Amino acid sequence: MTDAVVNGSEHPENPATARRKFLVGATSVLSAVGVVGIMTPFVASWNPSAKAKAAGAPVKVDVSKIMPGEQIRAEWRGKPVFILRRTPEMLEGLKGLTSQLADPVSEAPQQPAYAGGELRAINPEIAVMVGICTHLGCSPQFRPEVAAADLGADWVGGYFCPCHGSKFDLAGRVYKSVPAPTNLVVPPHMYESESVIIIGVDQEAA
Ligand code: FES
Repeated sequence: MTDAVVNGSEHPENPATARRKFLVGATSVLSAVGVVGIMTPFVASWNPSAKAKAAGAPVKVDVSKIMPGEQIRAEWRGKPVFILRRTPEMLEGLKGLTSQLADPVSEAPQQPAYAGGELRAINPEIAVMVGICTHLGCSPQFRPEVAAADLGADWVGGYFCPCHGSKFDLAGRVYKSVPAPTNLVVPPHMYESESVIIIGVDQEAA
């Protein structure tokens, strides 16, 4: 009887022992599955997806085919970026606007240091600006025509925001007395070569 009890409590063939071992084993498996199940979302949120990486990635733009006076649009981080090749006349027109502008020499931090001043560009010919109005985020229209009928006889070309009437010049500098408080943003950018710019990488870091 004693043997039977000792043997019965430890014998692998005993049904009660076998059931207990099965339950212990099953619990261990469930625990392991539970750990993996909990960890998976953590790993997924820790690893940025390829899509997220692509959305924040720098963008290369060939500026060699932009004709003088013409503007193209790129997209960087989901935002429109205006790239304008300014003509000598356009650059000349920027000089006489100082008294009409809210921040003519780019004192507010709306651009990298290497694209400050009056022209707000690394290469004076090529203006690079985020095409989002600094008032409430509409996209301003490119209005290069001098003395446009709806913008006044002294209009020398620039950007007009149709939402609430803000005006910017061809360097993205905001006019006085309009709803937009600051100049358009100049994004970080650099020249990879004479004809290719990279938007999203600072010139100094190159
Ligand atoms: S969003 Fe451009 S003026 Fe209001």
